[in-house]
Amino acid sequence: MHRLAGSEVEVGALGVGTWAWGDRATWGMGGYDTDLTLDTIREAWTASLEAGVGFFDTAEVYGDGESERIIGRMLAETPAERRRGVVLATKFMPAPWKVRVRDALLAAARASLGRLGVESVDLYQIHGPISLRSHGALADALAAAHDAGLVRAVGVSNYSVRETRAVDDALRARGLRLATNQVEYSLLRTMPETSGLLRECRDRGIVVLAYSPIGQGRLTGKYSAASPPPAGRNFSDHDMTLVDPVVARLRELGDAHGGRTPGQVALNWIIRKGAVPIPGAKNRAQAVENAGALGWALTDDEVAALDELSLAGRRALRHRVWQHG
Ligand SMILES: NC(=O)c1ccc[n+]([C@@H]2O[C@H](COP(=O)([O-])OP(=O)(O)OC[C@H]3O[C@@H](n4cnc5c(N)ncnc54)[C@H](OP(=O)(O)O)[C@@H]3O)[C@@H](O)[C@H]2O)c1
Repeated sequence: MHRLAGSEVEVGALGVGTWAWGDRATWGMGGYDTDLTLDTIREAWTASLEAGVGFFDTAEVYGDGESERIIGRMLAETPAERRRGVVLATKFMPAPWKVRVRDALLAAARASLGRLGVESVDLYQIHGPISLRSHGALADALAAAHDAGLVRAVGVSNYSVRETRAVDDALRARGLRLATNQVEYSLLRTMPETSGLLRECRDRGIVVLAYSPIGQGRLTGKYSAASPPPAGRNFSDHDMTLVDPVVARLRELGDAHGGRTPGQVALNWIIRKGAVPIPGAKNRAQAVENAGALGWALTDDEVAALDELSLAGRRALRHRVWQHG
């Protein structure tokens, strides 16, 4: 378990990303992916909880609030006993025109809580470093939401090493702590390691949440150069001829661990680095498979072998925060 700094909230070694829940543009709910329905989402939700994975990540912008609405519905259907294992994280989109950022954040947090059907959220994150306001102004806004009892822990997403330091310092000056930084991190994007972000976060007690941890499906073995993923998956979008050898190695290592799948090995590699992956799951089978990243561990040599094959990926581009994720 990871304790979120500045709070009593604890998250497990693995979470679930819910961007696809209710989203049309990228993941095709009601669009290209006709297999993605409220029923398959319900099964993914239930299977995750049954596997002991209760940390769900969403955002106000996912499906224009639909992801939060769906989670609210799932939560309401979940028996109280099982609901205790649920930890919810959502995000505020700090668009540049939201100049009165404190008012905007408080209003957005209240709207998110309304859609989620809860009185407070466990983790509230700034979606990306795109505000025109200072780190201090954003820290003030987060502190106001925390003081009002709307959020238990506060985090950021897509922040660089420098930005992470600045906002953590600003929060500490207000008696709070930065609990998390959610970044694109996988075998297809190791930049958080090479930039020193992982080290900085470890030193400061900030949990790194790894998004697109299975490369938007590319690391699961279901896609290849011969059968690439659908268009629009803009994270980890390497030429698949570069990804195929990584998946082949994941498969070999998985076989050596009693038939683990490439996706499970890819997630285990992240867990071994001390970060918390939040893979998206659209149905029961995916949720069950992803949860199988827990309960076993790659050896140091295997982690090192995968390090050799990994790809650095691209710098985080600010405009992508708007368009995706
Ligand atoms: N903060 C940010 O800016 C940001 C950006 C991106 C994502 N995120 C968060 O991170 C979460 C995860 O990232 P992501 O959704 O971009 O990518 P991901 O988790 O790497 O990939 C998820 C996709 O992979 C496929 N998949 C999942 N499990 C599978 C399995 N076991 N076997 C085969 N395919 C499987 C599914 O798509 P198909 O079945 O259609 O292939 C699923 O939608 C998001 O839901 C969101 O919460 C945050």
